[in-house]
Amino acid sequence: MKVLLIGSGGREHALAWKMSRSNRLSGLYIAPGNPGTDQLGTNLPHVDILNPESVVAACRKYRIELVFVGPEAPLAAGVTDALLDAGVPVIGPGRDAARLESSKTFSKQFMNAHGVPTAQARMVWNEHELEQELSKRQVPFVLKMDGLASGKGVLEARSTEEAREFGLKALANGSLVIEDYLSGYEVSIFVLLDRQGYRVLPACADYKKAGERSTGPNTGGMGAICPVPWLPDAMLETIEETVIIPTIQGLEAEGLRYTGVLYIGVMMTEQGPKVLEYNVRFGDPETQVLLPLLNTDLLDMCDAMIHGRIDQAFLETDNLVSVGVVIASAGYPFSHETGHEIRVTGATNAHPVTPKNLDALLFQGGTTLSPDEKLLTSGGRCLTCVARGRNLVEARAAAYQIADAVEFEGAWFRGDIGSRVFGE
Ligand code: AMP
Ligand code: GLY
Repeated sequence: MKVLLIGSGGREHALAWKMSRSNRLSGLYIAPGNPGTDQLGTNLPHVDILNPESVVAACRKYRIELVFVGPEAPLAAGVTDALLDAGVPVIGPGRDAARLESSKTFSKQFMNAHGVPTAQARMVWNEHELEQELSKRQVPFVLKMDGLASGKGVLEARSTEEAREFGLKALANGSLVIEDYLSGYEVSIFVLLDRQGYRVLPACADYKKAGERSTGPNTGGMGAICPVPWLPDAMLETIEETVIIPTIQGLEAEGLRYTGVLYIGVMMTEQGPKVLEYNVRFGDPETQVLLPLLNTDLLDMCDAMIHGRIDQAFLETDNLVSVGVVIASAGYPFSHETGHEIRVTGATNAHPVTPKNLDALLFQGGTTLSPDEKLLTSGGRCLTCVARGRNLVEARAAAYQIADAVEFEGAWFRGDIGSRVFGE
């Protein structure tokens, strides 16, 4: 099978790594890719992944038999719709269903319409409504910009002034959702969906805040673990009954059912699970910890999805724990420095590796190669250090051993990935 994988982050490096282990694979292309994916297949840096015609043209040129879309922006841009029209099987929803992620207003209306538990919210379309809502609410409460914002379009307001400033900025670009602040712990639930059935993957926890003990601004994710030891199996069943099934029924009812990944961000509150957000793709960095636990061929699973058989497909996970620590550039998430040389000392090198005595992987995200082939930083989240272990303590120690071996100017990471962290 010739596969085109779309994206260039740590998630795509992990997807490329997992696909490259499949017996079905006869060619792997990654658009645009990063230096890590280039080790595993052929990068196509000139494909414009936000332009459906450019993606379709690449599929014709390389005789692609399956497209896997990693990030949200190409989905929201209609890449899937164009590929399906061109007869190319694709994992990822069309533009309509991608609104579950690309519009906070749409997803909140969807949850309310289909009885999916979520925070009480009001949609705000203008300054007058914003002032009305601010005068009614006590902090903390949460403001969400309508469009895609790489995990940075959400403010947990601690003062009305801060909320007003963020709200006015958001209104300049569209609408806004203001909702109750939920306390509890978060889990990321991934569901493989096809037109007939679905399959729930092991739960992950993402460490979204920049600061330790979950303080500071939201980021795209500073680390992840899989599975989540503090999420009881019975709770996962409750999530399936109260969240996943009503969501899939809602998709069906609205004609939005798709073949792809549904990511449900869930807050486990004292009143039970409540949905924070939907995404229509795998998470980053959750993918980097989830895929190394799957004993199943990823392309077998993709094939099952394309044929509407995911509910019958073989799916096995290792009985291990996986921990991923993200190394970010100075300034992230507000801005970030680039162009610093990355060095990996000790037993590791800067490609997916299994160093001696360490069951470890190093996935690249915001990296680039200089003309003289030096590995440089090029983004906010540069690398994810992933290790598997028999338990959280073992996996965590190994993941931090890799993180300590990576050096570049201004590099930083959270030291508490794997700890159990609650909101206030
Ligand atoms: P979202 O993009 O909607 O998932 O929001 C990003 C992050 O903001 C979430 O992962 C949570 O950590 C936090 N967040 C979002 N909505 C709420 C809420 N209603 N209560 C508390 N935290 C929230
Ligand atoms: N880890 C959060 C996300 O992928 O949106």
